[in-house]
Amino acid sequence: MSDATIPATQLQVGEPGPGVPKVDPILIADGVRRSFGGMTAVDVAHVEIPRGKITALIGPNGAGKTTFFNLLTGFDRPDSGTWSLDGESLSHVPAYRVARKGMVRTFQLTKALSLLSVMENMRLGATGQGGERFGAALFTPLWRKREADITAQAEELLARFKLDAKKDDYAASLSGGQRKLLEMARALMSKPRLVMLDEPMAGVNPALTQSLLGHVLDLKNDGTTVLFVEHDMHMVQTIADWVIVMAEGKIVAEGYPSVVMQDQAVIDAYLGAHHDTDLGSLTGQLEVAKDLGDSFLVEELTDEIGEENTDAK
Ligand SMILES: Nc1ncnc2c1ncn2[C@@H]1O[C@H](COP(=O)(O)OP(=O)(O)O)[C@@H](O)[C@H]1O
Ligand SMILES: [Mg+2]
Repeated sequence: MSDATIPATQLQVGEPGPGVPKVDPILIADGVRRSFGGMTAVDVAHVEIPRGKITALIGPNGAGKTTFFNLLTGFDRPDSGTWSLDGESLSHVPAYRVARKGMVRTFQLTKALSLLSVMENMRLGATGQGGERFGAALFTPLWRKREADITAQAEELLARFKLDAKKDDYAASLSGGQRKLLEMARALMSKPRLVMLDEPMAGVNPALTQSLLGHVLDLKNDGTTVLFVEHDMHMVQTIADWVIVMAEGKIVAEGYPSVVMQDQAVIDAYLGAHHDTDLGSLTGQLEVAKDLGDSFLVEELTDEIGEENTDAK
């Protein structure tokens, strides 16, 4: 558990808190904002991710964590903001080039990817979802060599993640946990310096959680920086070196897990996150009930929203 306590060498410069500079940052982002319609989903003034460490990004549902990952990895465009990996600007760089520069995020297996084999999914990871195939195809011998290298690397990773026996199966046939392993293995095909994992434990049964934790720790031991979003407190406390808390698009707290996880505001945010009922969806239902003129339903929903709000305080 030594990793989850305050290390002998400090990660940050000065008092831990939102936006605190790091001794050795790999990623630095400034003024990253993204709104959808009138709603600001992400509004990160400044953040630095420590190199070679495991950083957990936590916060309630709708805090903007996934959107922030999308922006950093080029899968979405911000309204404003800049960020750089090892000093090289990555703003306005498309996703496949971000991947080639060493920063990838895991992606849930969509329906389309489920209909590809495990091996085909791995091969997609090598190019960061396409982009360089056309140019390379002009040089056939080089291309063949690269194809063979990709296959060898995929086989090695599949063996490491114990998916080698499944390489010709449709990804759709994998269990929830195996899909998570495949997402991680695929992300590693581009040999990233920084890996972003979005809820790696979601839908994973307890038998596989331990091996997933082990794989994340292996990444760190190999020198890869990990940034992960997770609701599973156990995982955060067990493996994170640093925790960043997001709420309503902003970074509201940062620090060592042993300190941040004791913070009352953070615990409150977590109670919100673990609620079975989604306040946003209740509010949406209330609008519908009002439109329908169903006074009984309006009353029930108003009560429930009231309870949710008191619980969240
Ligand atoms: N494409 C989109 N269009 C409209 N709203 C979106 C879109 N993507 C995300 N949002 C909204 O942005 C907010 C942040 O969402 P998200 O980044 O998914 O949060 P988290 O991952 O922390 O749960 C939410 O209110 C969500 O509904
Ligand atoms: Mg999310």
